[in-house]
Amino acid sequence: MSQDTNYDTFAEAYNAENETSLLNAYYERPAMLKLAGQVQGKTILDVGCGGGVLSEELLRRGATVHGFDASQAMLDIARRRLGAQAQLKCADLSEPLPYAENSFDDACASLVLHYLQDWSAPLAELRRVLKPGGRLLISVNHPFLYPLTHQGVQYFKTTKYTDELEFDGQQGSLTYWHRPLHAMSDAFARAGFSIELISEPPYSKEAPNELVPENLKDRDAFVSFIFFVLR
Ligand SMILES: C[S@@+](CC[C@H](N)C(=O)[O-])C[C@H]1O[C@@H](n2cnc3c(N)ncnc32)[C@H](O)[C@@H]1O
Repeated sequence: MSQDTNYDTFAEAYNAENETSLLNAYYERPAMLKLAGQVQGKTILDVGCGGGVLSEELLRRGATVHGFDASQAMLDIARRRLGAQAQLKCADLSEPLPYAENSFDDACASLVLHYLQDWSAPLAELRRVLKPGGRLLISVNHPFLYPLTHQGVQYFKTTKYTDELEFDGQQGSLTYWHRPLHAMSDAFARAGFSIELISEPPYSKEAPNELVPENLKDRDAFVSFIFFVLR
């Protein structure tokens, strides 16, 4: 895990937020599950699985699920949620992964790649552990998010930045790597992936009214994450 972002320090608070927030429960997760589609009978790797909420949904839909995360505290929460239903490991996406090649039909990397400066080795590792024809589903901070929320910064420069956030009442800081869209697609191509789909989805219509900020009530989409399906 990056030295700068340590989910161990706010794992329970982050998990509580993730289970119910507009961004996770009513935007990122439904969008990722929609891209995953029919998962019955598939073996899926949940990359940076956190507290295991996506894994739980994949299991409910009939997949066999393996997950890993660099934070032991997040994994403890995932274990509490999933019991023995999913095979969970502590592993770092920036290091060689503890899985044999050709192991998974799909891998889902929800909101994790933006913590890494260099995507080359992680993407090569994910390609190695996917079966031929397998898919890598990614969600990351939208490349337009950093220039939109930080005045005067350069869109085209790959840049490290830190946001101070509040999770369920607890302060936490997250350090991301912004990169422009072409840097993402270059990294995918270098690792041998082709882009099957790019998605900028709407948030879920099931989002409770009180979770939707006033300035978003007149629209169904906002700039936050971008989604890719790679093969
Ligand atoms: C924003 S949370 C998302 C959790 C989960 N994917 C979800 O969407 O509910 C990011 C997760 O990525 C994990 N993470 C960050 N850097 C990582 C790395 N280098 N290797 C593995 N996991 C990492 C964090 O510990 C955290 O659990």
